[in-house]
Amino acid sequence: MHPNSQTPIISTILLNWNRADLLEKTLESYLSTIRTPFELFIIDNASTDTSRDVINRITEQYPNVSAIFLPENQGGKAFNVALPLCRGRFIHFSENDLEYLPGWDAYVLRAFEDFPKLGQLSLFAPVPTDEEVWELKPASLKHRNGTIIYEAHQNVGTSSVIRAELVARGLRFDNIVGDNGVLFPNDGKFSYDIKQQGYLVAWSHHYLVNNLGHYGEEIENRLNYYRQTYDGKNWLKVEKLQRRFEEWKQKPRPQRRSVLFPDDPVLPEKSEPTRECPEPQLWSMFDGWTAEVETLEFLYSLVRLVKPRYVVETGTWHGFTATAIGQALKRNGRGRLVSLEIDADSVAVARKRVQQHGVADVVTVLEQSSLTFTPEEPIDFLLLDSALEIRE
Ligand SMILES: C[S@@+](CC[C@H](N)C(=O)[O-])C[C@H]1O[C@@H](n2cnc3c(N)ncnc32)[C@H](O)[C@@H]1O
Repeated sequence: MHPNSQTPIISTILLNWNRADLLEKTLESYLSTIRTPFELFIIDNASTDTSRDVINRITEQYPNVSAIFLPENQGGKAFNVALPLCRGRFIHFSENDLEYLPGWDAYVLRAFEDFPKLGQLSLFAPVPTDEEVWELKPASLKHRNGTIIYEAHQNVGTSSVIRAELVARGLRFDNIVGDNGVLFPNDGKFSYDIKQQGYLVAWSHHYLVNNLGHYGEEIENRLNYYRQTYDGKNWLKVEKLQRRFEEWKQKPRPQRRSVLFPDDPVLPEKSEPTRECPEPQLWSMFDGWTAEVETLEFLYSLVRLVKPRYVVETGTWHGFTATAIGQALKRNGRGRLVSLEIDADSVAVARKRVQQHGVADVVTVLEQSSLTFTPEEPIDFLLLDSALEIRE
């Protein structure tokens, strides 16, 4: 049964203003990926291109998709028009320049279930992808039951999911009026209001959508459109966009794929630049706590080279280093790893990963502090990767 014939869990409000080709991509990818019962309201902010044709084609096809054509552009406030109609437990605000990726809704539901105080979840991760002309957003990792989110130190953008209870408490979108009169959704105030209610505002673990409107190629192809909108954003300005765009063009293009974990999503490293490491985004990460993809590959090679019998690791976390070491030990044909972790949640996640990668016979994950551990024999290879204070 297509998820459109049941009571909605997710109510999506998609705000459109021109760029009909991107709207079409957004709608098609949304409809082909959503597996959760949903309803979709498309609000058109008085577009002047062929958007209406695209929207009508979709509403004719899907009974739970409806459209509201506004006679004039109301800016970000237009989202509010559909709020009284929404029946879902979660309200999802979508821009019209996204490509939804399989599994996005499952991750969203899991995150809201695992974090009862999560109020707003962005569909983006805190680190821009290589395709995006965008910047790193300061954030801190939070985890539960193996689900990772990044608490936003500031606000997240418009494309996000919130709990419907926030709307019942009066949450609404406001506008920011740009220098040139263009009306933008006031994302900053929106996230601020959510935080004021005692809720958490966060980025996702990885990109749940491709953020096509930030892609360098897209900006290059539709330069006038973006010049006009960015020029209205007095906090951003076209010069800043130009600078970001020039930087983006010069950037190296690393292949973001792990040799050891090819199926796990990888993004550029999330650390801020420092004097010692001025270009951290050249490295790739799975999440903000796991060793970088490059470090894992180095570790694997080291274990292959050293041929240890008894390996100990402190700080298993979600088991990537343990699995990498385990794979090397198996190839070596001898040796075992004991990995120590104090967090019960992480132990469960790590054991599952170790199992799935077929290295459980050489890797033992113990729920124990490294500070109380006594090795059973002389250690040939030791990886200290627990809390920084303990390691130093
Ligand atoms: C940086 S993460 C480890 C990353 C992991 N080695 C990897 O790259 O796949 C640090 C982990 O150390 C754990 N930890 C902190 N103090 C610990 C202790 N005293 N004993 C064992 N684990 C500890 C934390 O719970 C956290 O999961």
